[in-house]
Amino acid sequence: MNKLAFPILAVLADGKFHSGEALAQRFGVTRATVYNAIQSVETLGITVFSVRGRGYRLPKAVTLLDADSIVQACGEYAPWFHVQVLAQVDSTNRYLMQESARGVAHATCVAAQIQTAGRGRRGRSWVSQLGGSLTFSLLWRFQCGAAGLSGLSLVVGLALVRALHEQGLTEVQLKWPNDLLVKHQGQWHKLGGILIELQGDMEGPSAAVIGIGLNLEIEPGMRQSIDQPVLGLNELCGRSMDPNRLLGHCLSQLAVHLNQFAEHGFAYFQQTWMHYHAFHQQAVNLHLANGQVVPGQVLGVAEEGSLLVETASGQQRFNAGEISVRSAA
Ligand code: BTN
Repeated sequence: MNKLAFPILAVLADGKFHSGEALAQRFGVTRATVYNAIQSVETLGITVFSVRGRGYRLPKAVTLLDADSIVQACGEYAPWFHVQVLAQVDSTNRYLMQESARGVAHATCVAAQIQTAGRGRRGRSWVSQLGGSLTFSLLWRFQCGAAGLSGLSLVVGLALVRALHEQGLTEVQLKWPNDLLVKHQGQWHKLGGILIELQGDMEGPSAAVIGIGLNLEIEPGMRQSIDQPVLGLNELCGRSMDPNRLLGHCLSQLAVHLNQFAEHGFAYFQQTWMHYHAFHQQAVNLHLANGQVVPGQVLGVAEEGSLLVETASGQQRFNAGEISVRSAA
């Protein structure tokens, strides 16, 4: 990205007009340099209105991420975290996996203002826009090996649901293994997703890069590029959520849940998790990797986090990554 692009974007974040001349003066450059920086912003898919005689502005104001505000919103857990905000990155997960291998500290959180190549589960991509979603990754180091981390992604989902309930969004639920869903106008919509990538030995120690994407606002153009019903948290709560506060609340809930998980494993959360499961004891269709669709009834989740389903061929147990679950209703 052009090195002036983000500083200019930070000025335009107030949603007001700023003339090319005022921007040029502010940064000690020519108007042509400002123009080039604006072009570079637009290549990231960010619309900048340019009106002769008035200058440049964004379609609307955007609250940018700010590391100090995020840490402050972590409350009593603030001293735990090392928060970094990147202006632009391809994927916070990819970046933090690399940093983790270099030995970066436990509880490092990397959040992106702009993420250009977000990774999703099952090889999908995660689409996001400036101000339209909260995209971050958290590094959590465990004494145990990867083999001891089954159910981790479910616990992360539970922590996020609780953070959102704390914000008054009490209708948010989970879909196994870890999507955040809400029923809106009679249909399930995805609000956010989790992608966990692991490093280390099966025996331990290990490190988990916990990538989280939460939709704040879905632009109509963006909705078309996503192959399932999605909703933004702003639309759900009828106001613009402050992403810094939201991220701080998510981190403090994650600290509580991840510590309990390290101590007790998933079994400790099993009953609570089922309480928040949108499809608990519901009829579902299981989409298998080979394309087959198997109808069934969700019985619950097992002690290590696998999904228990009653199907025509009896009770079956599925691990995350093997199937995708859709409501049959
Ligand atoms: C899913 O498929 O539902 C999981 C999506 C996870 C997306 C987040 S956005 C921040 C982090 N960085 C990534 O590249 N992916 C995760």
